[in-house]
Amino acid sequence: MTRKNILVFRELPPDQLARLQAVHDVTVADPKQDRAAFDAALPEAHGLIGSSFPIDAAVLDRAPKLEAVSSVSVGVDNYALAELHRRGILLAHTPGVLDETVADTVFALLMAASRRVVELANLVREGRWTKNIGEDLFGHDVHGKTLGLLGFGRIGQAIARRAALGFGMPVRYHARRPVDLAAQAPELQGRAVRTPLAELLAQSDFVVAMLPLTEHTRGMIDAGVFAQMKPGAVFINGGRGQTVDEAALLAALDGGRLRAAGLDVFAKEPLPADSPLRTHPRVTPLPHIGSATHETRHAMAELATSNLLDALAGRRPAALYDTSAA
Ligand code: DGY
Repeated sequence: MTRKNILVFRELPPDQLARLQAVHDVTVADPKQDRAAFDAALPEAHGLIGSSFPIDAAVLDRAPKLEAVSSVSVGVDNYALAELHRRGILLAHTPGVLDETVADTVFALLMAASRRVVELANLVREGRWTKNIGEDLFGHDVHGKTLGLLGFGRIGQAIARRAALGFGMPVRYHARRPVDLAAQAPELQGRAVRTPLAELLAQSDFVVAMLPLTEHTRGMIDAGVFAQMKPGAVFINGGRGQTVDEAALLAALDGGRLRAAGLDVFAKEPLPADSPLRTHPRVTPLPHIGSATHETRHAMAELATSNLLDALAGRRPAALYDTSAA
């Protein structure tokens, strides 16, 4: 097979880089660190692999030989989907291998926000644990409370399993299409119920957003949505930051509608230093670590590498993303 040119635009583990180098000519250039090197490699690139950088029409214009883009992420909001489709460039991503890890992260955030884990750990660290804590520092139970999920794909279902089977939580979910639980998650039958949005918001003690960023979901969680939440609800976002109106989120926290929020994602990442969400006393912020474990990030890189090798060899990648609907 003729060697092709691959542009790696975010660091890959050495073993996966070696798989690419064995068959193709590889340039590593992270545009966030060296934009000129990235731009210089684009005109000859047949394949791109990486994440967390927008591959938009302007980037594609500079890459006339491009055949395939392999994202080391499940989310595809960084890619100009319609443009990729129009130009006949394949897009692959990494669904499946990160579901349980992201669900773990979301549950950690939910527990931390409700039981005030970070705030109380800081109290100990800072030498302020001088007497038994009083009611003013108590948290709220998680077990047995109602969980409302906005988005019920594979990750949403993994969160629902933890909630329903581990914590005895009734689960409501909002999804555009009904999910065939008998086929996809039989253990959740009778435990997770598709519920109209207004009812879900009014009933849930914890509202967890796991929405992909699309033209339908951008800014979807706005003041009107927060206003319908149960007073004292906890809001968690493990999907995409831009699905939330952050000003409305802050108003819901400060106005008392929300008791707390746990956020792994933000409208702008890294979170700007002047964002009030960074230091808000009732926000637990994380630096977008949903899938960030050694095991899972490696599994994502491995799947993305296989996807790209397959695409460049004319085989159908295992996790091809259908750009035709964009
Ligand atoms: C994903 O895989 O989409 C994660 O959110 C990392 O971007």
